Parts: sequence; C-alpha cells; structure tokens
Amino acid sequence: MKEKTGLSAVTSETNLSEATSSSTDDGVQRHWQGVVKRRSFLKGLGIAGATLSAGALLSTEAHGQTSTSSGKLSKGDAALLRFAAAAELIEADLWQQYNELGGVRGGNAAYIAALSNLDGDMAQYISDNTDDELSHAAFLNAYLISKGEAPVDLDAFRTLPSSQATGALNTGRLTNLLRLNVDLSWYTRYRSTQNPDFGTKLKGPFVIENQPAIPVSDDDTPPGQPQPVPPANAQQSRMQAIANTAGFHFAFIEQGGASLYPTLAFKANSAEVLRILISIGGVEIDHFGLWHDKAGNAVSQPLAGVTDPETGLTFPDLNALHSELDQTNLILAEPCEFISKSLPQCSVIRPTSTKNGGAVATIKAFTEDLLFLGQSPAFFSLVTQLAQEADSVRRGF
Ligand SMILES: [Fe+2]
Ligand SMILES: [Fe+2]
Repeated sequence: MKEKTGLSAVTSETNLSEATSSSTDDGVQRHWQGVVKRRSFLKGLGIAGATLSAGALLSTEAHGQTSTSSGKLSKGDAALLRFAAAAELIEADLWQQYNELGGVRGGNAAYIAALSNLDGDMAQYISDNTDDELSHAAFLNAYLISKGEAPVDLDAFRTLPSSQATGALNTGRLTNLLRLNVDLSWYTRYRSTQNPDFGTKLKGPFVIENQPAIPVSDDDTPPGQPQPVPPANAQQSRMQAIANTAGFHFAFIEQGGASLYPTLAFKANSAEVLRILISIGGVEIDHFGLWHDKAGNAVSQPLAGVTDPETGLTFPDLNALHSELDQTNLILAEPCEFISKSLPQCSVIRPTSTKNGGAVATIKAFTEDLLFLGQSPAFFSLVTQLAQEADSVRRGF
C-alpha cells in the first residue's frame, strides 16, 4: 500500500541531528547496528564475513533439515557458490551505500523524504534489503570455509569514491551509484507474454542514462530541504529524480538476482548446495517483487512528471499510456512462453538460461549499468573468471 509521509515524520524516525553530528566511528557503529537490527545472529560479524568461524554457524544440530552435509564440495558446486558470494559482496556494497543515506538510520533526511514519496516504508525496506545481502555474503563465504574452500574476498577493490553528500561514509566502494544507466527492460518483460530465453528482446518503458541514484553532494541537494509532491523548485526536483532512479535501480539489481539463482541452482551437484541456492534465490525474488511495486509509484500520479534539472531525465506518467505493458500496478509476473512454445504459457521468473541470466550475463548487465565505473582491470578479470567458472558447470548427478 502506498503511503506518504512528510519530512517531519521521517526525521523524527531517523534522528537526523544525531546521525549527522557524531564522529565517523560512531557513524559506522550506528550504521552497522541499523543493518543488523533484524538479525541478531549477525552481531559482531565482520562485513565481508570471510573471517567468521564457520563452525559457529554450521556445527548446529546434527539431525534432519538443520544439519550440514559432511565431505568436500565438488569443483562445480564450489564454483557456483564462489560466484554467488562475489555477487552478494557486490550487492552488499551497493546496498550499504543506499542504507547509509536512505535507510532507517540513514543520514540524509531529504533523500529519505524523497524516497518516502514512493512509499512511506522505503527506509525500512532499504535497511532490510541491505541486511539480507550482508547475511547472504557472510553465509556463503562461511559455508565455503566450512567445506575447506577459500572464501571470496573483494576488499582490495574497495577503491571507488563515496558520495560527498551528508550521510555517506567517506570510504572506498566496490560499486558506483553516482552515474548509472538503469536497464528497465525487466519492467516490460514481466508484463509481457514473451520470454527472452526464446530470443525476444524487450525494451524498458523509458530510459535512465547517466543518472545518480544517491545524492552526489549537498550543493545541488541540500540534506535538510523538504520534499513536497510535486517538487516546488529545482533542488527538490533534482533530489526526487535521484530517489526515483534509486527506486528503479533497486528493482533492476534484484531482478538480476532473481534470474541468476535459478541458473546456478540448475547446475548444483549436491542437494545441500541446491538448497542453499534455491533458498537465497527465493529472497532475491521477494526483493524484486517489492521493488517492482515501489518503482511504479515514481511513474504514476501524483508523483509522475518529475524532471531532473541537471540531466533532463523525466519520469513519465506510465498509466497515461493506457497499455498493459506500462500499467504500473501490473506487478505480478504475466504468464509467458516457457520451455516450449507448444506448451501453455506459464508465470515464471525469466530469463533462466545461462546465456541470458547466468553469471557472465549478470556481470555484463552490472557493467553496462555502470555499477563498476572506475574499477580496475584486475577486478574485471577476477569477477569474469569467477563468472565463467560458474557458467561452465554442468549438472553432475
Ligand atoms: Fe543477495
Ligand atoms: Fe539481492
């Protein structure tokens, strides 16, 4: 359900003055507490999770569904989980940036207010999504360690700049959110009866190119400004456009996870690895469904029509087009072609082919998104290698 809250309601929840006046160390601690609020088991866990004692998580009850299997992973299963761990570290990095600025303890009140124009619960959802990605990355690395495999460590590549806006921690990042091309083809794809795995190419309903998804600095988006609907001046329009871009980027990222995990699961050798991939993948799909719903609020009344004064990007009123490929509340997957065109259409996650939704396709999509803008050749070399190893796995039952 769509709710609206004003700036005052948001700032009373997030305690902006506290969030912006204390030291960086305090900020890190507060941020972290916010992230782990829902998940007490994560308390005290390092962000990358690579140093976690695997035994602490995994030597639990030795019976039934709660036990872990003994023995080593097959080469293929290890490759599948390594790529999943890399993808989750990437996801966690970008979600942490959103959470610092726009989560429940986020430090940028105007950004939070602009996001809340999409839904009054956006800050909570952002914090919870961040929390989930951190848990995915930590679990996958700990599981690899428990099986005698090396965890994935991308810390050497946390080199990209942070936002200079109030609320962002000044630290190195794996991912860039300051200038994004957001592929919106998922919006049309899930309203369409066609499936990319049958060769169909679908376009998004409009184009988001070279647009920030988080405030860049306080100069053009003052952190204390109100965010009325519609925006009343250029600075408010700029911040609303940034929040709207974020709303669509959330769904873009999570639909990638929704397709990736089925492609990985299909190749799993052990039943336990299959269970891990299906179980985490289900949460990626849950995230996508949520963000799909929220994004539509940026392109329907009363918010539709916002134009970024610096980039010229306009968020149209998609319901005014009177087309089922655009209608904003058609968020549940339409039945589509699946397996064979001679079979009845079926409502499914798509694509799920390695070519269109696998590991290499995921890295390619993130690269085209400009998520890795400024990353080193060594970074691309590593993630591409991990992706190729995962995609080359074949089912080996
Ligand atoms: Fe995840
Ligand atoms: Fe995710």
